[in-house]
Amino acid sequence: MDGLLRGKVTIITGAGSGVGRAAALLFAQHGARVALADINAQAAAKTAADVRTQGGEAMAMACNVASAAEVEALVAHTVKAFGRLDVMYNNAGITIQPEPGKGLKRLVESTQADMDRLFGVNVYGVMNGCQAAIRQFDAQGGGGVMVNTASVAGLVGYGGVVYGATKGAVVALTRTLALEVAGQNIRVNSVCPAGMPTNFMPGSSSERAMASMAQAHPLGRPVDPAECASAALFLACDLSSNITGVNLPVDGGLAAGVPVKRPG
Ligand SMILES: NC(=O)c1ccc[n+]([C@@H]2O[C@H](COP(=O)([O-])OP(=O)(O)OC[C@H]3O[C@@H](n4cnc5c(N)ncnc54)[C@H](O)[C@@H]3O)[C@@H](O)[C@H]2O)c1
Repeated sequence: MDGLLRGKVTIITGAGSGVGRAAALLFAQHGARVALADINAQAAAKTAADVRTQGGEAMAMACNVASAAEVEALVAHTVKAFGRLDVMYNNAGITIQPEPGKGLKRLVESTQADMDRLFGVNVYGVMNGCQAAIRQFDAQGGGGVMVNTASVAGLVGYGGVVYGATKGAVVALTRTLALEVAGQNIRVNSVCPAGMPTNFMPGSSSERAMASMAQAHPLGRPVDPAECASAALFLACDLSSNITGVNLPVDGGLAAGVPVKRPG
């Protein structure tokens, strides 16, 4: 198979749904050999089966990214199956689910358990993925690419406070890590999507939720997970070969500022 990631061994976390699933299908269309990880093993297996149906090469693995040991095992298993690792896409992420009939939890309503869970997956999960990937890249003699899914909530105030704090951490670690590993010829970037209709939040595909996302984005529509996957593809492949430490908004202009309201 030809394409922008021809032959590149790529791990994608959170590959059972939403952005991760879209990235798995897209990266494989571009020739990547994909190792698909998700805490939901069945969902990862379904994505892997769909990649194979479209002619790609895929394996699936159950992995909780909050566990460093499970992420190490994911990388080891991938290398055993595919011989090496070229791209690590740390995409898995969660938010605090609102209680039925209520909006997003405010900080004062958020529990220690909420905070631990979100930081465990969204921040430790990304750091676990980066650590394991760097060790493997070094063992291969250097080089390698990491892409993280942060959020527009890491760039501007948007959504819940605890969630925004975790994504702000991903934005900061992407920049700092990019500097730290540049000498090893490893690139680190993130995509920062705004609202997408996925399984991330219940009801996000409802007409009301879609209209609210459309209103928040200057381009006037929600972000399609495939659009976020396209940005991740750009950062994963050689088209971005001299780009590192960048947090790329995929947000219909949301992070650009407040649009001027013109009369009429
Ligand atoms: N949907 C949005 O509006 C939105 C906006 C900005 C950023 N994001 C980010 O995009 C990324 C992907 O989210 P999505 O919208 O595709 O959501 P999604 O819920 O559709 O998919 C996330 C996937 O991650 C998996 N996952 C959850 N916890 C995991 C864990 N501990 N270990 C491994 N896998 C785990 C889930 O099982 C699911 O398959 C996340 O990092 C999220 O924070 C989403």
